[in-house]
Amino acid sequence: MSEGRFSVSQDEAAKQKEYTELVREIIDTRFSEKPLAFVHTYGCQGNVSDGEYIKGMLEQMGYGLTDSLDNASLILYNTCAVREHAEDRVFGNVGALKSRKLADKNLKIFLCGCMMQQVHIAEKIRKSYSFVDVIFGTNVIHRLPEFVYRSLSEGKKIVEIPGGDGVIAENLPIHRDSDFKAWLPIMYGCNNFCTYCIVPYVRGRERSRPPEVIIAEAEELVKNGYKEITLLGQNVNSYGKSPDYGMNFAQLLERINGIEGDFRIRFMTSHPKDCTHELLDTMARCEKVAKHLHLPFQSGSDRILKAMNRGYTAEKYCSLVDYAYKVMPGLSITADVIVGFPGETYEDFRKTVDLVEKCGFTSMFTFIYSPREGTPAAKLPDPVSAEEKGTWFRELLKAQESVAAKRTAGSVGETYRVLCEGVSKGGLIEGRTEGNIIIEFPGDQNLIGKYQDVTVTESLTWILRGRAVENN
Ligand code: SAH
Ligand code: SF4
Ligand code: F3S
Repeated sequence: MSEGRFSVSQDEAAKQKEYTELVREIIDTRFSEKPLAFVHTYGCQGNVSDGEYIKGMLEQMGYGLTDSLDNASLILYNTCAVREHAEDRVFGNVGALKSRKLADKNLKIFLCGCMMQQVHIAEKIRKSYSFVDVIFGTNVIHRLPEFVYRSLSEGKKIVEIPGGDGVIAENLPIHRDSDFKAWLPIMYGCNNFCTYCIVPYVRGRERSRPPEVIIAEAEELVKNGYKEITLLGQNVNSYGKSPDYGMNFAQLLERINGIEGDFRIRFMTSHPKDCTHELLDTMARCEKVAKHLHLPFQSGSDRILKAMNRGYTAEKYCSLVDYAYKVMPGLSITADVIVGFPGETYEDFRKTVDLVEKCGFTSMFTFIYSPREGTPAAKLPDPVSAEEKGTWFRELLKAQESVAAKRTAGSVGETYRVLCEGVSKGGLIEGRTEGNIIIEFPGDQNLIGKYQDVTVTESLTWILRGRAVENN
């Protein structure tokens, strides 16, 4: 494959392989037992996917993985910057490591991810959390072997947050968290610059992986028994535009649907401005594509949508939803919404509630606007108090709760094909329907990772209860 504008060069990749070997040698001589790494990821599935490559690289360097901070000799937080709350949690968790680091100077603390890509944050960590060993940004994840090597051999602090448009690093080792559900990134970065959002600043320009690489990876996953593949991107609808592969997202979906095997395809996130009828028709036609669409609308007020730079109106969004339900009658739609964007009035907010009542979402991620340094919206006057925004937020949740309750109540008596994922707190098998609704039912643990037909017996607003259909 030729090296493109975003590709990591072959020289660079070879250099990282050498660093991997050098770390292995250090580990062999310095540790009597396999050292353990604790990796924790915050944020979206894209970040979780990065975390799987990070774990893969650490394993290749000779580390084992641990879920406990206590026995870790390397602690890595892969951070998110999307809202202030996400950042506060990281500051809290990193602060809590200070006493451990003072007691054990061989402990290595690494911070990476979107939050670290911001210069003011890296600076704050360097000054106020000076016990952190390594800070690196989103453009240099593939250089982790080098950072581990330099930290182990030289012991100096490292801060590497180069800017630029971003990279695509292929052929990294991967440690997948699940052996039946897989994340498959199809593109990175974002060009949309919604005025509230930090992602385009910390993730670089939109760039797609070549279709042949994605299809080969999907084939490999299916061959290895994966039952669900989720295609990831901040705006999957603009897949293939940069670089131009002559294949758009709908076509890519159709190609993956053509892979033989018993598996389900999901994707996220779709942007309404680029979500075409072609895509919805393709979804409808492709039997392996789950009939679930995550289509964030952010606001129901055209004035606010314009100020957010979203590129569509509430009416356009609703007509897209109408079309989607028309071609996929059982479709489950979920969304993201922001309450309290700067300048939003109660009248604007009520338009958001109206849209929620019209569109029949199965569930929604609801966020209170959080100003992000460096974004245009952070400079706008924001006169509504946090308390009032909180009242609106609860009003919206209530509206969505009754919409969701109606939807789930309507599914009692229906039978769904469920991918069993684990055991619920109450000891029931927990899985998800094609529409991504959680369903619990009594069953055997060996169902985990398999499909099972389940008839719904009870609805509990957001989740369903049911019983397994025998002999399926
Ligand atoms: N690319 C996706 C979303 C990525 S961020 C999309 O365009 O839909 C996930 C969600 O976080 C967004 O949909 C938005 O609802 C929310 N979000 C992003 N920035 C935010 C901010 N500054 N304050 C509150 N919520 C925000
Ligand atoms: Fe952020 Fe908008 Fe890009 Fe989504 S599309 S990541 S909300 S800038
Ligand atoms: Fe957060 Fe970065 Fe994802 S800011 S939402 S982890 S792209």
